[in-house]
Amino acid sequence: MKKAVLAAWMLVFALILSGCAKTTPASSNQPSSNDKRIVVGFSQIGSESNWRRANTVSMTQALSEENGYRLIFNDAQQSKDKQFRAIRDFIKQGVDYIVVAPVTEQDWEDVLTEAKNAGIPVIIVDRMINVKDDSLFTCWVGTNSAKEGAIAVQWMDSTFGDTPLKIAHLQGTMGSTAQLGRTSSLDEGLAEHPQWTLAFRGSGDFTQAQGKKLVAELLEDGVAFDVIYAENDDMAYGAVEAMEAAGLAPGQDATIISFDGNRRALELAMEGKINYVLECNPLHGPRVRSVIEQLEAGEKPQKFTYVDGTSFDQASITQELLDSREY
Ligand code: AHR
Repeated sequence: MKKAVLAAWMLVFALILSGCAKTTPASSNQPSSNDKRIVVGFSQIGSESNWRRANTVSMTQALSEENGYRLIFNDAQQSKDKQFRAIRDFIKQGVDYIVVAPVTEQDWEDVLTEAKNAGIPVIIVDRMINVKDDSLFTCWVGTNSAKEGAIAVQWMDSTFGDTPLKIAHLQGTMGSTAQLGRTSSLDEGLAEHPQWTLAFRGSGDFTQAQGKKLVAELLEDGVAFDVIYAENDDMAYGAVEAMEAAGLAPGQDATIISFDGNRRALELAMEGKINYVLECNPLHGPRVRSVIEQLEAGEKPQKFTYVDGTSFDQASITQELLDSREY
């Protein structure tokens, strides 16, 4: 009995400690010496968006205890420094693999050199990192943000032709791959279409609250715009809310373009409140698991895996599509 009480207290103590560090073993079972599970430290960006939450679920389900993993999950709360600290902690713990969804692309050399020196393979997921030496990571899995942006620009071109457009550009987290890619494609579009101008450009950090705040401020300040180019769904939801609060009709009084393709965005597109949605698939868990399985089998996974997406306008959304949407 005494032993059971002691064990329970030790567990509570371990959970408190892990809670302070925002690092949570996905399983409460502590490893034993004959534990054959593969230990993965996963540094997630945060929970800034619905996309991110779907990504976390996909990763934790794929790297579950039933599948033979012990997942140590860390939420970096959108902070690059917290992410570096988490990775150093994974190295100290001697995990078998490190998986990182990087907040931003820069400054990865030092921490990844430490992981390399410790002999721990690093798998990058979702966003990219910008390093000269690509032996610092084993492979990358994600979507092509610049391509998503280019498809959005093509749609604007074919929808509006020569009509002059004032564009309000809601950017994601500055320096993240999703922001850099989607912004660079819009910049190319602006350079090729002299009839397009920027009414506004600023970062809403991929959150609904910031997207709403930015658009509400534009409306209060009387800034005119025809198109909102929101670099993710959550900022588009915020834009819809701000327009409605100002008595405007989103999707009609301004065209809204959004990235990700969460079910809610598709519903809003079906209602005509968002006009065009670019899909960016968050369900990377099974792909990361397959990379680890290849490494475990002594195989060499592909260095870069781009996951394709599609795009939706109002006419292409059916109830069947909404019902089958996994995120
Ligand atoms: O890196 C992917 C982006 O990050 C998604 O578009 C966005 O919703 C998320 O926060």
